[in-house]
Amino acid sequence: MKKTNLSKRVIDWYRLNGRKLPWRATSGAHPNPYVVMVSEFMLQQTTVKTVLDYFEPFMRRFPTVQDLAAADLEEVYRLWQGLGYYTRARSLHHAAQTIVNEFGGKFPQEYSQILKLKGFGPYTAASFSALAFNRPETVVDGNVIRVICRLFHLTEPIEQIRTDIVAKAAELTDRKQAADYASAIMDLGAIVCTPKNPQCLLCPWKEACQSCGNPDLEQIPNRTKIGKKEKNGSVCLIFNTKGQILIRKRSEKGLLSGLYEFPWTDNGTPNFEHLKDSGKQVCHIFTHIRLNLKIYTAEYETPPLADSFFVYPEQLKDYPFSTLMKKVCKQMNMDI
Ligand code: ADE
Repeated sequence: MKKTNLSKRVIDWYRLNGRKLPWRATSGAHPNPYVVMVSEFMLQQTTVKTVLDYFEPFMRRFPTVQDLAAADLEEVYRLWQGLGYYTRARSLHHAAQTIVNEFGGKFPQEYSQILKLKGFGPYTAASFSALAFNRPETVVDGNVIRVICRLFHLTEPIEQIRTDIVAKAAELTDRKQAADYASAIMDLGAIVCTPKNPQCLLCPWKEACQSCGNPDLEQIPNRTKIGKKEKNGSVCLIFNTKGQILIRKRSEKGLLSGLYEFPWTDNGTPNFEHLKDSGKQVCHIFTHIRLNLKIYTAEYETPPLADSFFVYPEQLKDYPFSTLMKKVCKQMNMDI
């Protein structure tokens, strides 16, 4: 089948069957680039289902790029709490400030200019310019990778054939209707060409697909696992005699930047006196490691660490905490 037929078919299918998502413009309307930017940042490494809980509260609080640019980073983190990968929140805030201060609030449209904004890598810049400005850029997310690998029956580990996948995805991109095409191929992967039990009978590409009816269909794409390293560390809940608990703020750089936490280490026991083992622990998966944290408690009257302070447990909810620390609270039956 010719590639123009493939793109026409998937776009026609999308107009009837696509997902109604709150960040999508209704058919025929111009998308709001700010809305597209926020949703694309939230959707990096995060599922649509999770993002749906965060998108609308965020947009209510920061309805325009100017509102976001003027906001305190701490408030942005608060609304991002639980979405994970907090560097995205900082980059989004920074990009909003650049757009307001350097572009007079008007979003750049060229891929090369977009790429210079904080937090826009090649994939986000491409999806942003396709979805916000209908530029003929190619979107490559997990759904698209699955659809392309199945369509062309690419069975090698995807890390080894990424260039080929991107080239094939680019060839299929509809240059006139890039925005609808991008949403269409993502939705095809999410609704029809699913990892398990794909609905091949409903697929607009079934005649062209080289994997349709093939018994190895569910094994494509071949995602060779990169083994996660395991680390064993600990976290310490330090109380004073007023029942207050010690917290500190992480630096603005690196893992979980700018969020609050109880003192913890990813290696061994914390360096405090009279530690009590609570017998509880939490496990958390980061991109590259699996972290097990044993939970200890200790008592101190004055903060034993620089830049740390005591708060009442009821006040914990006023500070942005990472999912990791929320898991610790949950284990210890503390509300956050
Ligand atoms: N994944 C990345 N961007 C997306 C979008 N705009 N809609 C659905 N899933 C996505």
